[in-house]
Amino acid sequence: MGRLVGRGDVILLIGGLGTGKTCFTQGIAHALGVTDYVTSVSFVLLGEYQGRLPLYHADLFRLDSLEEVAELGLDDVVYQGGVLVIEWAEKGLSAFPREHLQVHIEYLGEHIRRLFFVPQGEHYREVVVALGKMLPEREGERWN
Ligand SMILES: Nc1ncnc2c1ncn2[C@@H]1O[C@H](COP(=O)(O)OP(=O)(O)OP(=O)(O)O)[C@@H](O)[C@H]1O
Ligand SMILES: [Mg+2]
Repeated sequence: MGRLVGRGDVILLIGGLGTGKTCFTQGIAHALGVTDYVTSVSFVLLGEYQGRLPLYHADLFRLDSLEEVAELGLDDVVYQGGVLVIEWAEKGLSAFPREHLQVHIEYLGEHIRRLFFVPQGEHYREVVVALGKMLPEREGERWN
């Protein structure tokens, strides 16, 4: 995913506690060439990292209202051409651009996760198709 994201892309991570949202973000950061370690941003709210593109990482876990989400100024970040990755995005879905990529992460077991990619808009559909082509096909996995 980190190899596929481009300027202004919005990736919304949706999944319960400890499902792997920060880990997924770290993977994107790695592919973007971010050398700082991306940590959980529950207290910082918006983390900014420099890589091939700027990466902005926010965690809405502690936010209680849509107004608080709006105050983060995430729109500006998108317009500045960074990649925006949001944990607990379900807390503020309506505050994000209508076109975005939702990644739903499910905990299936200690070492097993299931990811659903839900693209909103043609651009993100193309990203998901490209992602499917990059990954080896394995039994039990579906791309459609
Ligand atoms: N794809 C994965 N497969 C197996 N284990 C994973 C995967 N992703 C993350 N983990 C493990 O799950 C644990 C929680 O990961 P992580 O902190 O990324 O979750 P989170 O969704 O960000 O949690 P929180 O809700 O607290 O923000 C870590 O121990 C991590 O190593
Ligand atoms: Mg996290």
